[in-house]
Amino acid sequence: MQHQTYISALKNPLFRTISKAASNLNTESYVIGGYVRDYLLKRGTAKDIDIVAVGSGIDLAQEVSKLLPGKPKVSIFKTYGTAMLKSGGIELEFVGARKESYSEESRNPAVENGTLEDDQNRRDFTINALALSLSNATFGALLDPFNGVKDLQNKIIRTPLDPDITFSDDPLRMLRAIRFATQLDFIIEQKSLDAITRNSKRIKIISKERIVDEINKILLSEVPSKGFALLHKTGLLPHILPELIALQGIDEKEGQTHKDNFWHTLEVVDNISKTTDDLWLRWAALLHDIGKAPTKKFDKKLGWTFHAHEFIGAKMVYKLFKRLKLPLNEKMKFVQKMVLMSSRPIVLASDVTDSAVRRLIFDAGENVEDLMTLCEADITTKNPKKFKKYHSNFQLVRTKLVEVEERDQVRNFQPPVTGEEIMKTFNLKPSREIGIIKDAIKEAILEGEIPNEYEAAKEFMLKKGESLGLKITDAS
Ligand code: CTP
Repeated sequence: MQHQTYISALKNPLFRTISKAASNLNTESYVIGGYVRDYLLKRGTAKDIDIVAVGSGIDLAQEVSKLLPGKPKVSIFKTYGTAMLKSGGIELEFVGARKESYSEESRNPAVENGTLEDDQNRRDFTINALALSLSNATFGALLDPFNGVKDLQNKIIRTPLDPDITFSDDPLRMLRAIRFATQLDFIIEQKSLDAITRNSKRIKIISKERIVDEINKILLSEVPSKGFALLHKTGLLPHILPELIALQGIDEKEGQTHKDNFWHTLEVVDNISKTTDDLWLRWAALLHDIGKAPTKKFDKKLGWTFHAHEFIGAKMVYKLFKRLKLPLNEKMKFVQKMVLMSSRPIVLASDVTDSAVRRLIFDAGENVEDLMTLCEADITTKNPKKFKKYHSNFQLVRTKLVEVEERDQVRNFQPPVTGEEIMKTFNLKPSREIGIIKDAIKEAILEGEIPNEYEAAKEFMLKKGESLGLKITDAS
């Protein structure tokens, strides 16, 4: 069979080194997977390169290291029979070609040494099973037993074997199929898609860390809604993010309806993805309405209400992050804060007063820009007049934000009068009065009663102290 050759994909001298090492060991080696796929898609060349050895991947890695300047350290993962080394900013992963046979009783496959074709058979998708030969005689030849190149051209995700086998081998692949479809804007072939729906429950056996890796990649795609719609359609989503599923549907009472908050959320995520690549801000968009399901009520006078959904939603963020083993650090706190404050600028937009703007800056602090980005993305009305109006209102808020911050500097608010000074002035020991005075000063600044300046704040403090019945003992 005549093979197409892609020597241009193998310009990096590392490939000749691997070729030499394999020939020293009398074996064959191939580049496989993402590197070949991305080269053919012209997505740039990946920094992670997967190498298959027909024989031992660990031996090949060690031989390659010997031939490289500085003999880079080889990390060996014995249980998996894989090895890794880094050279010139590139990570090389070595694995021996394997053949796996599955028994019904055990999830653990019996692994045997195999040929390249055996190894290609047990990979996830035809587009990830493409291999380029590194053997001297056939250097650069493409080995494509499942027409992966055709699938690349037709933008199709398809498993090399019966999808039920491929997905039961590693159920994470169901998520990977959706992730690749979203990242690359491909279609999942019907048989593979049906198999995902059939096997969706099996995602439960996969670790949260691996699941979250894929969800993050979907979220970081250009149009994340594509992935979430597929997760929904295949029945995977309830096992991963049931909070989102709970937002789905439109209820009607006394002729009044509310919007479908699931599809609305996906629109918001797509909107925000046009303006930010920040993963956590995208998470905030995904979760900004999750409090709406548990707070939904119908009121005869008010219609549908979601009272305090931002507060409940922020609490749900913690539980969700914990369950999915997402970080419980400042990233989670940022998402909580965005969810908690997600309606604030909307309320403001209809009546932009200086004091409300000051309060917003004070409460949002350094995240005020991100909050505005989220609120703008939240505008999904299909009414062009309203769309324009809401956007121009937010523009007004943005202008005010700059104006007020320039004048009053409340973004990183530091009390202009310290607690120590209050204690000294009124000869106080640490006590609740100090807190009361400090709070009153802050409130007066936010309300615009006094400017955010030392002299004005001090004068205010003296008056406030007096009104509390305190005696001035040191007014210096
Ligand atoms: N692979 C697989 N099944 C998995 C994971 C990976 O068959 N569950 C195979 C595929 O051939 C894949 C290769 O291992 O191409 C490398 O996997 P990985 O580095 O996770 O993905 P890439 O395809 O390189 O893509 P990306 O870097 O975008 O994750």
